[in-house]
Amino acid sequence: MDEKLKKLEAHRARMLAGGGPKRVAAQHERGKGTARERIDALLDPHSFQETDVFVEHRSVELGMDEVEAPGEGVVTGFGTVEGRTVCVFAQDFTVIGGSLGEMHAAKITKAMDNAIRMGVPLIGINDSGGARIQEGIDALRGYGDIFFRNVKASGVIPQISVIMGPCAGGAVYSPALTDFTFMTDKIANMFITGPQVIKAVTGEDVTGEALGGATVHSATSGVSSFMYPDEASTLAGIRRLLSFLPQNNIEDAPLRDVGDSPSRSDQGLVTLMPDKPNKPYDVRDVITKIFDGAPGEAGDFMEVQSMYAMNIVVGFARLEGRSVGIIANQPKVMAGVLDINASDKAAHFIRFCDSFNIPIVTLTDTSGYLPGVGQEHGGVIRHGAKLLYAYSEATVPKLTVITRKAYGGAYIAMCSRHLGADMVYAWPTAEIAVMGPEGAANIIFKKEIEEAADPAAARAAKIEEYKEAFANPYKAARRGYVDDVIDPAETRPRLAAALRMLAGKREAQSPRKHGNMPV
Ligand code: HXC
Repeated sequence: MDEKLKKLEAHRARMLAGGGPKRVAAQHERGKGTARERIDALLDPHSFQETDVFVEHRSVELGMDEVEAPGEGVVTGFGTVEGRTVCVFAQDFTVIGGSLGEMHAAKITKAMDNAIRMGVPLIGINDSGGARIQEGIDALRGYGDIFFRNVKASGVIPQISVIMGPCAGGAVYSPALTDFTFMTDKIANMFITGPQVIKAVTGEDVTGEALGGATVHSATSGVSSFMYPDEASTLAGIRRLLSFLPQNNIEDAPLRDVGDSPSRSDQGLVTLMPDKPNKPYDVRDVITKIFDGAPGEAGDFMEVQSMYAMNIVVGFARLEGRSVGIIANQPKVMAGVLDINASDKAAHFIRFCDSFNIPIVTLTDTSGYLPGVGQEHGGVIRHGAKLLYAYSEATVPKLTVITRKAYGGAYIAMCSRHLGADMVYAWPTAEIAVMGPEGAANIIFKKEIEEAADPAAARAAKIEEYKEAFANPYKAARRGYVDDVIDPAETRPRLAAALRMLAGKREAQSPRKHGNMPV
């Protein structure tokens, strides 16, 4: 027995050494951890249980029969985050550049199957040169198997991708199919075709960082959900995100009581709203005042895609310890208008929340959809429709607070009663109407204004008249489209009570295979 145990340990040690000390040192020099170091930093101490450490490739072509690939270039297994089980895989760049061959993919798909079967989140750390060139079609099949499972798992378990190195070619589509993508600044790269191919095909000169670095994907393309400056903060970010999420689509997110009373009112919400309707404010200040915060601290708000389509803010917070997803127009950026990117961003987030039983709170302050040829030709009709679709489809509790402007289509789109909001509150500053006073007065009082002795004064008077009559919450409240007009200071207690009332909400959908959301 002793002999056999020694053999086992020697064999395991060879596998755990990965690509060897030289390649591990090279990884460290780049500010990168090894696959196992990353997993250890992500999971609770000593909780990681590695599986398939002895898996080997069976490729013989192009000299592969001579190549040893410890662990097949990917570390897989399971462990816990704050005591809750997760399945993980981390590609090992020290072994054939973390490239994906048949057995490498088989290890990943086994981890995915386990996560789906067990109903636990899947976290995949990507650091790879892509399809293992020597394995050809077997490598491609491996990617296909992964994509297929990403789709099967979508809406069943949370899937989180982490990019901590290259992620090139078709490999990018697995992260794209998952719920959230984390990128580490200056270390992560994602692109379908790299700088060399681009140079050859289009003649454009671009570096890997400028083409597909973390900043580009966080601020410009919207591919990345979160960006962090280094690996440690990236992995801590994943742990934080998981604290807001349930394990799967059947469970609820964990409760976390930080001792913030649900009946706490906040006068700061009254003073925060500017006197002039066109003056901006930061909606994140509204969010952190309403939602749970530890004693003496602002509310704990984890913003998603904070650098992309900043005219809308989405993210997770808690109310009475319960996770909620927040969608809020941001008056500080482009006056909070809705455009193509904001619609895409919000729709994706709403669908995530709905898949995983996370109630949705919407804060409305927008003058409408962004006008412009670029928007129209870019398909704002198609993209804007996603927002209507996502809100209407969502069956989780939906609460809306109209803080200021809610005009036209944007009033409807921002989770109005008509799209199935369960409770709609408005602040007294709310302006709910078919269009803004300036535009409306110019159209309906056109003749009177033109014929007036002093057209400018007449226009100002008519704008005021329209404002008085329509730019307020009471017309909508009279119809019952707004359930109550509330003191802003009371927003937290009112939302908390509504959420409690809706805790048992069950809404059945008509039987169908699936809807056909505009894409
Ligand atoms: C086999 C690979 C590999 C790959 C890297 N390696 N990528 N082996 N297949 N795809 C090996 C290298 O030969 C090297 O082996 C080791 O990994 C480290 O690579 P280096 O090039 O030395 O590292 P670095 O300079 O950091 O460059 C990293 C890199 C570069 C930028 C990722 O390796 C690279 O460009 N690789 C190819 C990327 C690519 O085009 N992939 C697309 C494949 S097609 P040694 O033994 O020297 O240490 C594809 C299609 C998928 O992915 C479609 C799915 C739908």
